[in-house]
Amino acid sequence: MKFTMQRTALALALLGASAGAIKVDFTSDDSIKAGASTIAYGLVKYYNGNETGQIPGNLPQPYYWWETGAMFATLIDYMAYAGVDTYLSLMTQGMLFQAGKNNDFLPQNQTMSEGNDDQGVWALAALSAYENALGIGNPNWQGLGKNVFNDFVQRWDSAHCGGGLRWQMAPVNAGYDYKNSASNGVFFDVAARLFQQMGQDPHSEWATKVFEWEQKAGLISDSYQVFDGLQVESCNSVSKQQSSMNAALFLEGSAYMYNATSSSDWKTRVDGLLKEVSTTFVKNGVLYEPMCEEKELCTVDQQSYKSFLIRALKATAQQAPYTAATIQPLLQSNAKAAAASCSGSVDKGFAGQPGTACGFSWIGDSAFDGNVGVGEQMNALSALTALLPQRARSQPSTTSGSGSPSGSPSVSPSVKPKSPGNKIAANLVTVLALFGGVVYGLC
Ligand SMILES: *[C@@H]1O[C@H](CO)[C@@H](O)[C@H](O)[C@H]1NC(C)=O
Ligand SMILES: *[C@@H]1O[C@H](CO)[C@@H](O)[C@H](O)[C@H]1NC(C)=O
Ligand SMILES: *[C@@H]1O[C@H](CO)[C@@H](O)[C@H](O)[C@H]1NC(C)=O
Repeated sequence: MKFTMQRTALALALLGASAGAIKVDFTSDDSIKAGASTIAYGLVKYYNGNETGQIPGNLPQPYYWWETGAMFATLIDYMAYAGVDTYLSLMTQGMLFQAGKNNDFLPQNQTMSEGNDDQGVWALAALSAYENALGIGNPNWQGLGKNVFNDFVQRWDSAHCGGGLRWQMAPVNAGYDYKNSASNGVFFDVAARLFQQMGQDPHSEWATKVFEWEQKAGLISDSYQVFDGLQVESCNSVSKQQSSMNAALFLEGSAYMYNATSSSDWKTRVDGLLKEVSTTFVKNGVLYEPMCEEKELCTVDQQSYKSFLIRALKATAQQAPYTAATIQPLLQSNAKAAAASCSGSVDKGFAGQPGTACGFSWIGDSAFDGNVGVGEQMNALSALTALLPQRARSQPSTTSGSGSPSGSPSVSPSVKPKSPGNKIAANLVTVLALFGGVVYGLC
């Protein structure tokens, strides 16, 4: 009994039940926005890249470089739907600082360890900024996305397992021998979104090619499970872990392809992926990460994946409006659980408003599970943003859904598309020669 009381007292102290906590009236958009604003504040407190002497676009350890790209994508969505500019300059500065000299998110500092999936996450953030016309000084966000697309086309490897992108770009890196769904998923999603924006090939061709390769390779099953990847030495050695991020990338891209084509093939894929997601990644009416969440073994990376799936579900409800009736109830219950989890007061680096740290797991009995971090804040921010009904800004002109070419984008070409070529390869060879033999850890 005493033990129980102590535990309760301790739990209350840890949970900060009396302090803060985000209370949202889910019938009011203003209340949802206010909750999202508090979560966003707590999120950005982890970032100091806009301070003097810091590096724009980097989060401190333990966050890998790619996660800042994912954080910006989350903030872009939030700003677009809440109709605020709070983090516009911080986002623009960080994204452009990491664009690299070829404007394709291959900055020199990352060349040793950057994977295709890392590069693609930044490209997807740029495409979100483009779609929402967000940014200071009209950066050519779409041009950045196109450059990354062109890099991916160059790196497509038909020589092993019939196609696909490898995970790592540098042959010395562990993971060069692995073709993963995250890398091919970002390629697919970038291609699909460029096609929906521009209505031009080669984007549609490549989106179709990547999706069909994933199916042929056994990485997307007949029931639309998306598996992790395969080793190039034995093409049928598929690693069958399923992550919400991989499913998100293929669901989102398929919804954009459906929007641009109205085709029954893409509708079949959207339906299949949505059904699979609703089974595999939902428990007690909310999203979760089945491969690690219940065992409390999710890595720092994995703790941010749900944000991708939430944003993909929201995009799917918009790009394929017939799915909204299925998706909305899930987004609703998910947002309620997410907001309830934002009641933490812990001394683990969270510097937002006391009592508003968001937890990771939303399926358990206690609202706040004691985990805090960038991923936790991103997930909850995406969860609340997903309930906001429409973008506060008008989108730049895109295709009318017919897939036909549209006019040129309304942003100025301050970032010039580069012609892809051997430059990246040459840079890599130089860098690798300088640091020859160093094998970077998996990240
Ligand atoms: C960095 O961004 C935060 C959040 O917008 C802001 O409060 C802070 O003043 C910025 N710092 C600088 C040096 O601009
Ligand atoms: C690369 O690293 C150097 C040294 O830390 C830093 O000064 C520079 O700002 C970094 N550049 C990028 C794009 O991150
Ligand atoms: C494409 O998306 C727009 C915006 O949500 C929507 O109005 C339109 O109906 C969608 N097209 C299709 C084929 O569903």
